Amino acid sequence: MDTLDIAFAEARRFLATLDTRPVASRGTPAEMRAPLPADFPATGLPAADVVRAIAAAAEPGLTGNASGRFYAWVKGGALPAALATDIMCSAWDQNAVLASTSPAGAVLEEVAGRFLLQALRLPPDCSYAFVTGCQMAHATALAAARHAVLARAGWDVEARGLFGAPPIRVLANAHHHSSLTRALRLLGFGTDSIVPLHGDAPGKVSAAALTEALAAAAPGTPTIVALNAGDLNIGACDDFATLCPIAQAAGAWVHVDGAFGLWVNASPRLAPQVAGIERADSWATDGHKWLNTPYDCGMAITRDPAAHSAAMRMTAAYLTTGGPVRDPMDFTPEWSRRARALPALAALMELGRDGLAAMIERCCDHAAAIYDGIAALPGATGLARPTMNQGLIRFDAADGRNISDAVIAAINASGEAFLSGGTWHGERVMRISVCGWNTSADDVARTVAAAGAALAGLR
Ligand SMILES: Cc1ncc(COP(=O)(O)O)c(C=O)c1O
Repeated sequence: MDTLDIAFAEARRFLATLDTRPVASRGTPAEMRAPLPADFPATGLPAADVVRAIAAAAEPGLTGNASGRFYAWVKGGALPAALATDIMCSAWDQNAVLASTSPAGAVLEEVAGRFLLQALRLPPDCSYAFVTGCQMAHATALAAARHAVLARAGWDVEARGLFGAPPIRVLANAHHHSSLTRALRLLGFGTDSIVPLHGDAPGKVSAAALTEALAAAAPGTPTIVALNAGDLNIGACDDFATLCPIAQAAGAWVHVDGAFGLWVNASPRLAPQVAGIERADSWATDGHKWLNTPYDCGMAITRDPAAHSAAMRMTAAYLTTGGPVRDPMDFTPEWSRRARALPALAALMELGRDGLAAMIERCCDHAAAIYDGIAALPGATGLARPTMNQGLIRFDAADGRNISDAVIAAINASGEAFLSGGTWHGERVMRISVCGWNTSADDVARTVAAAGAALAGLR
């Protein structure tokens, strides 16, 4: 058997067992180390043996992210065309950094970018970058924001850096994801520069809070406002139609964390939750969450291509740049990079507009069904019924102790489903997050049954 055949056989076997294998891995570190040499081999091993050994080592430690019963963090599986294209990307091994290094990588990325903007119903002349995930999408889009707000203040941040620059205020939804914090840290803002914005409704910034925060500094102060489309606890979305004009009238750049929530704009039924989102100046989202591409695929999108490329563009004498086709490197923080736009293109083409909307809606319906089924169990209290694809449930023992973490651990140990916890208003809770293209009604029923069994064993 040739090496690739071995890899394909292993991949097929893994996918075929997704429905029956435990969603959480049960392997011990010792089991994972055992098939591998203890030390760096003095001489190389046959390629086929290497692939077999690595497959054997990984097998007991694989998490079923791609399973229809994986509801932890925020993660979808991989649509068949996206997975197959991702495998071809490895075989082609393109450096999709410039049109000159990979014409295919650059041209297909242009098509992927166009389809992406159409799918998300964002302005067609936006710039985009395919990066490793939402974390780097934040870093990329916020670098564009940093450029734009400082350029308006007469400061060239790419040339002069931040030392001595006019201070930039960052006003962020108080429920922002920590990846936004880290992106700001990487860009030299420092976490102390973040002013949290609150509101009356959970997870949402109020117009009054934003107006007050904007008014706290002199007009013309460089300002970035960071809003949420879908927080990872309850899927809360800011009121973009109201907040974007307020922020922009004060000269601020509005950035949106739409890691998964931006995708509801693709569903006519759910899009009202993010009404006005197209008015923002930049958006960060993920392919590997709700578009169901394999890791790692994130997207940074901006309304200001000039600011975006000013923040990212670099040249070197050995590179051929600037042809008629867009050079991806003008928009990404990476230098060499795989053709990661191609699995996203594949997912978008496999779904089409109707399929994408149907998948988003199906996930939300499944999230609500899991929530309803589990919240009805004795000892369970529903805290937030999914309005999108995220829900929260607390579990209590008969004596009133919060046993949410123990119930999550028991469900995960059963192998039937995989969930994660969180803290909501100071109490431990179980999060339900449904992003998988392949989650079915049967998966929902199995998950509710697993939660019932876990709870019964602990109360
Ligand atoms: C709301 C939100 N923003 C950002 C991120 C970070 O995304 P990534 O892990 O792709 O960098 C996540 C991850 O779960 C998220 O839920």
